[in-house]
Amino acid sequence: MKIFIDSAKLDEIEEAFNCGFMDGVTTNPSLMKQAVEDLKARGEDIDLAQYIEKILTVARGTPVSLEVTEVTAEGMIRQARKIYERFNPVADNVYIKIPVNPVHEGAEVGPFEGLQAIKTLADEGIPVNCTLIFTPEQALLAAKAGAKFVSPFAGRMDDHIRKNAGMEFGKKDYYPAEGKEVDDKLIEDNGIVSGIDLCAQIREIFDTYDIDCEVLAASLRNTRQSREAALAGCDIMTLPLYVIRDLVDHYKTREGMVGFIKDIIPEYEELTK
Ligand code: E4P
Repeated sequence: MKIFIDSAKLDEIEEAFNCGFMDGVTTNPSLMKQAVEDLKARGEDIDLAQYIEKILTVARGTPVSLEVTEVTAEGMIRQARKIYERFNPVADNVYIKIPVNPVHEGAEVGPFEGLQAIKTLADEGIPVNCTLIFTPEQALLAAKAGAKFVSPFAGRMDDHIRKNAGMEFGKKDYYPAEGKEVDDKLIEDNGIVSGIDLCAQIREIFDTYDIDCEVLAASLRNTRQSREAALAGCDIMTLPLYVIRDLVDHYKTREGMVGFIKDIIPEYEELTK
């Protein structure tokens, strides 16, 4: 199972890659905005092109997803080619993130623009990570269009299900993979009971039809959810740095360290000098 860092902050990406086991990076326009705002707040001058080049270099040849911001197929294809031509030569690791369907309030676009863009880019050999996946059928279509990765947004799906059920929750709160009952009824979104269930259903469809597209569990907010993404058979999980740090932590590990450090005998230390 591959682990990506979900961040556009260079210092976070460096910290994660220094561990030696990172397999890639995902960014999106909101993460890019946070990174740039942080730099500006610190009074740093930024050249965004150079900044992205540094991210690609730190990622050491592992996939780095950079997202388009246009909403028509034509616009997304133009932008994707530009990003790919400009940045892929740096470390040969650019993946273009395309929303499965760019339709949203205020945008006069057709429902297939994202899929059309994916198909064109895939035919040109530009690798695509299809983003904003909230149903297994969206994932199936993205894979058929030629996406290399599909990104189900597990955390946002959990948020959506619990919000609709009137639950109160914090962004990092765990929500069970098997879903929850309210008034003796399992709450769900058109047959999806949780974000991890969304990932698992995509996995099942891809396995059933032997579809060559990796399932990238995205929008993960805590360690238990990341474990469940692994158990659901996702190929990749992308995690914010705080979750990557939490993955390695346990109270009993820390407690055990205190005991071992206390019991070090000088003879042993001498031997290992
Ligand atoms: C990554 O590819 C996604 O854009 C990201 O995981 C979304 O996470 P969020 O739902 O926490 O914003």
